Amino acid sequence: MSGIVTIAKNREKPVRNRHPWVFSGAVEHIRGARDGDIVTVVDSAGGFLGAGYFNSRSQIQVRLLTWVEEPIDEAWWRRRIQQAMALRHEHFPLTKAPSGFRLINAENDFLPGLVVDVYGEYLVLQAQTLFIDQIKRDLAEILLEETQARGIYERSDIDARGREGLKDAKGMLAGEPLPETIEIVEDGRRFAVNVATGQKTGFYLDQRPNRSLLRDLLLARVGPPARVLNLFSYTGGFGIAAQQAAGKVTQVVNVDSSAEALQQAQANSQRSGLDSSSAQYVEADCFTYLRTAWQQHEQFDVIICDPPKFASSAQQVDKAARGYKDLNLHAFRLLRQGGLLLTFSCSGAVSRDLFQKIVFGALADSGRDGQILAHLSAGPDHPVALTFPEGEYLKGLLVRVL
Ligand SMILES: C[S@@+](CC[C@H](N)C(=O)[O-])C[C@H]1O[C@@H](n2cnc3c(N)ncnc32)[C@H](O)[C@@H]1O
Repeated sequence: MSGIVTIAKNREKPVRNRHPWVFSGAVEHIRGARDGDIVTVVDSAGGFLGAGYFNSRSQIQVRLLTWVEEPIDEAWWRRRIQQAMALRHEHFPLTKAPSGFRLINAENDFLPGLVVDVYGEYLVLQAQTLFIDQIKRDLAEILLEETQARGIYERSDIDARGREGLKDAKGMLAGEPLPETIEIVEDGRRFAVNVATGQKTGFYLDQRPNRSLLRDLLLARVGPPARVLNLFSYTGGFGIAAQQAAGKVTQVVNVDSSAEALQQAQANSQRSGLDSSSAQYVEADCFTYLRTAWQQHEQFDVIICDPPKFASSAQQVDKAARGYKDLNLHAFRLLRQGGLLLTFSCSGAVSRDLFQKIVFGALADSGRDGQILAHLSAGPDHPVALTFPEGEYLKGLLVRVL
């Protein structure tokens, strides 16, 4: 280890509590560390606190890898990857069967800066930091050996790389070239995923349990079949889950601003063998769609609201809060008596607490009553390290409206 980073007095507690980030403000001095190096992190008396990787360009100057004195060599990376795989083995067998899930969830799997998703027989790797970018080819080789995947594609095209001094990177890292699309099956729903051009690493894998919850809620429904509004539908995830509740649903309206995503949504619905007459695809801005639907006195029994990230930083939280409030207010206005709203925020900067307050504010403005039936989050393939609350970016509420 070449460099030493000393933590300022009274700033050591988060490191001792195994929070994986050391912000620049907590650093007293840096000796002999270059960007992209593994460094030793010590307290002001020189006592060992941990080891991690360093980047002076980032506000997060060190991402901690370990809190014990141990070599961080190839065997170390392999053990951590195996540990992440062991969790998924408990939930999703890593067989050759087509399926999509998150295999490595960065800091939450104690592998800061590294995301790996499984799409059928292929892996998609995202290098979020300089250090991970430097070792991504070695990691890809370990991942190929450990998972027996056919190939590994890189989708390192996220804003966070800019803060690390990195440009976007996309393309094959190892193994066989990608097919144009990969089919994944999720609880009977079939999606053709284009991992090279789709959003995120190709698909919103994090919403899988909530899509299945929607189907189950509809299947359990008594009374007349439901009219469902799927806002921000992307390639049809929630809409297809609603269509799975055949006989319990009259119509599913999917709204998204991307014509390409809507085309794919329609194709995925057909691929899943569902009745095409129950689904509608509307290319529109969801804010405008909701306003118009309200003016036209439209009503729905179930609304799903899963917008993109509105806040990437603390500075953007107020603006994001206004956006969430507007969406949820209109959603509440459109719901029939006893209707259900599944509402989400994937902004890491908006806490669960704040999100609930925003939804409450929207409900109050709508003049209606509501009950929270469930707090929603991503599935177990997106674990959240208890030491790292920032890892819980996806939060949602299931609200019944009276
Ligand atoms: C978080 S994703 C939704 C994921 C989806 N629920 C799923 O399960 O796959 C957000 C989607 O919102 C769309 N979008 C972004 N801004 C929009 C807007 N103002 N109006 C309509 N759609 C929008 C994007 O094209 C993207 O498909």
